Amino acid sequence: MAAGEQSNRFCADLREASVRAKTGKSLERFERSKRVLPGGVASGVRRAARPYPLFFTHGEGARVWDADGNEYLDYGLAWGPLMLGHRPPAVTAAIRAQLEKDLTFGAQHDLEYEVAERFTSIVPCADQVCFANSGTEIVQVALRLARAVTGRAKYLKFEGHYHGWDDSVLVSYKSSREELEAADGAPVGMAMGQRPDPIAVIAEWNNEASVRRAFERHPGAISAVICEPMLANNGCVEPAAGFLELLRKITSEQGALLIFDEVITGFRVALAGGQGRYGVTPDLATYAKAIGAGTALSALGGRREFMDYIADGRVVHAGSLNGNPISLAAARAALDYLAEPANEVYPRLERLGTRLREGLVAILRGAGHVVVTQGEPAVFQIAFRAEPARNYRETLTSDTQKYSDFALALLDEGVIVLPDGRWYTSAAHTEADIDATLAAAERAAGDV
Ligand SMILES: Cc1ncc(COP(=O)(O)O)c(C=O)c1O
Repeated sequence: MAAGEQSNRFCADLREASVRAKTGKSLERFERSKRVLPGGVASGVRRAARPYPLFFTHGEGARVWDADGNEYLDYGLAWGPLMLGHRPPAVTAAIRAQLEKDLTFGAQHDLEYEVAERFTSIVPCADQVCFANSGTEIVQVALRLARAVTGRAKYLKFEGHYHGWDDSVLVSYKSSREELEAADGAPVGMAMGQRPDPIAVIAEWNNEASVRRAFERHPGAISAVICEPMLANNGCVEPAAGFLELLRKITSEQGALLIFDEVITGFRVALAGGQGRYGVTPDLATYAKAIGAGTALSALGGRREFMDYIADGRVVHAGSLNGNPISLAAARAALDYLAEPANEVYPRLERLGTRLREGLVAILRGAGHVVVTQGEPAVFQIAFRAEPARNYRETLTSDTQKYSDFALALLDEGVIVLPDGRWYTSAAHTEADIDATLAAAERAAGDV
């Protein structure tokens, strides 16, 4: 081991020891949880936390507190939903008011059309909207609808894009370069137990030739192209100039639907999401995370001619808790807050996010690290590599061990970030929070 590397490991060990020393109550709870929850967590990705998953008691605005009473500035934001921060007053008041009425009806109520009216007035592709409870679920509704409309079985997705954990879409996501090359456009499964009936056709993000080849190889078989309008889930890789327009054109020519998965980008990169930010309107779009402001809610927006298949029951979309009033009370309050220009949500996110990401890069470069940032101010990536990535394979050249050490050092400094390099900002963060975060990053940068 080279001397520099040895000293990095030594710093990481010290940081880990420091975090362990002040999070003993989380460790106790983690050990207790492991006895009764697989891996001690409720969602597999949370196992990646170093040194172990922390347990939280409450949050407010941009801050959360753990079981030992430690306070953190939060840029994980529950993996994205908390665009208005923890416990935003407008949302909690709306939920509290609804609690006095009822938890759920399994039947119609005013909040359903009230949220749908707001949603359709904001989202360009949406004449109508239907609700479910998670992003995974709502993507399945979109893909089923596309199959019904086109009478075709397959769909095209891109390497590195995530559309939930269902068998049909959990393919070619965190795969290695070798696996993707060997598969040559066939889907690469991720985990044991997945059904071996691939309906996914895989192409490379930002690569026109690869999309054209996929349609040539599967003539008349592709029902839809699905993508995040920006690959936010895996590296924050923006669409190259003209690429979304190209997808719009090819899908129209080929009789396939264009689906934007706006689970992350929706109401975040702009009020009208990725389709607003990049100016391309898909046929269908899926939403979760920000729309529920921390409650379980997802939505599919689409043109009426497609949604008619759901209206008359040709396509089945069901769910006991669909449109539940607690989530919709939260959504109505969140959408009203986001859409009110006087709240200045988007200009603030732009200003604070830009200052934060540029500040982080300057600090890390000043400490001698090779680092890039890409994405949008409201959700961006910090990665230790020389060049911005244009596709998933290029993200694989990042030094992920170094990022993990940086994230651990930040945690020790009282700043929470996701383990994969993605940073979320919220309307609750202030200039003073950014100052504090950059000061913490200054101290952490010397330790990686
Ligand atoms: C782009 C994208 N689509 C779909 C999903 C799945 O959403 P959920 O976790 O609510 O099932 C996610 C989750 O992170 C996502 O990032």
